Amino acid sequence: MPCSPDDADAPADLARRFREARADDRLAVLEGFHALKHALRFGAEVQCVAAADPDALERMAAELAPDLTGRFRALAGVPVPAEELRALAPHVPRTQVLALARRAPFGAARLRANRAGGPVVLLEDPRDLGNVGAVVRVAAGAGAAGVVTTGMHDPWDPAALRGSAGLHYALPVGRDDGFALDPGERPLLALDPEGDVLDPARLPSDAVLAFGTERHGLGSALLARADARLRLPMRAGVSSLNLATAVSAVLFAWRLAHPADS
Ligand SMILES: C[S@@+](CC[C@H](N)C(=O)[O-])C[C@H]1O[C@@H](n2cnc3c(N)ncnc32)[C@H](O)[C@@H]1O
Repeated sequence: MPCSPDDADAPADLARRFREARADDRLAVLEGFHALKHALRFGAEVQCVAAADPDALERMAAELAPDLTGRFRALAGVPVPAEELRALAPHVPRTQVLALARRAPFGAARLRANRAGGPVVLLEDPRDLGNVGAVVRVAAGAGAAGVVTTGMHDPWDPAALRGSAGLHYALPVGRDDGFALDPGERPLLALDPEGDVLDPARLPSDAVLAFGTERHGLGSALLARADARLRLPMRAGVSSLNLATAVSAVLFAWRLAHPADS
């Protein structure tokens, strides 16, 4: 549905609605065509769409997402002027569309109990929300079972959703500080530049793959609890990979070595 009725108070109501949504852990703020496209494709309950040019979105859908033809215009309703969009987000995307949706449900217990559906990516206290978004995107692409984070950041922060292009709706994503110490029956593998060289063929498809924080790597409690410490071999002199690229390399090494499970 459109974000607000077409009346004199609408711009202020709209700005308040988006401001409140950013502080509401039941809601997601989607910024840009691709984020909204993936959210719709993977079943998000979209509450409202504000777009400067709903017809332009439909033209993009015809080219890039024909499966969603008709959805954008129907959701957006009347155009929202560009200056009003600027009150809704710190950076209005080039495609000039912003939306609010319910977050998808997340159950850590289900990820522990159900060992099918590929490995779980665990990010210990990630600091960069762009990394979190990039990890969600690559985890969706590689066919991981879910992404669990620990620490202070909300993995559904709008900045992370920007980085994932809305693919938070393609697999379970959530925060659970206890996941590393209680991964259920899943083996816990620590990805660590000091570990043993990883053999993709021996990566279990039901593993929890744990990655450390950008500056300091994995903490001692998780390393002590892990069933193995594994590394991606690097050229001499390079100390580590960026967090999201390390996740990408490990997940696609797993996917290529386990075509039947992915
Ligand atoms: C930027 S790195 C952290 C660097 C930190 N100084 C360390 O030694 O772990 C962030 C995370 O990416 C993963 N990572 C980066 N390079 C890796 C490699 N070559 N092998 C395995 N994991 C790696 C690890 O999980 C690491 O904790």
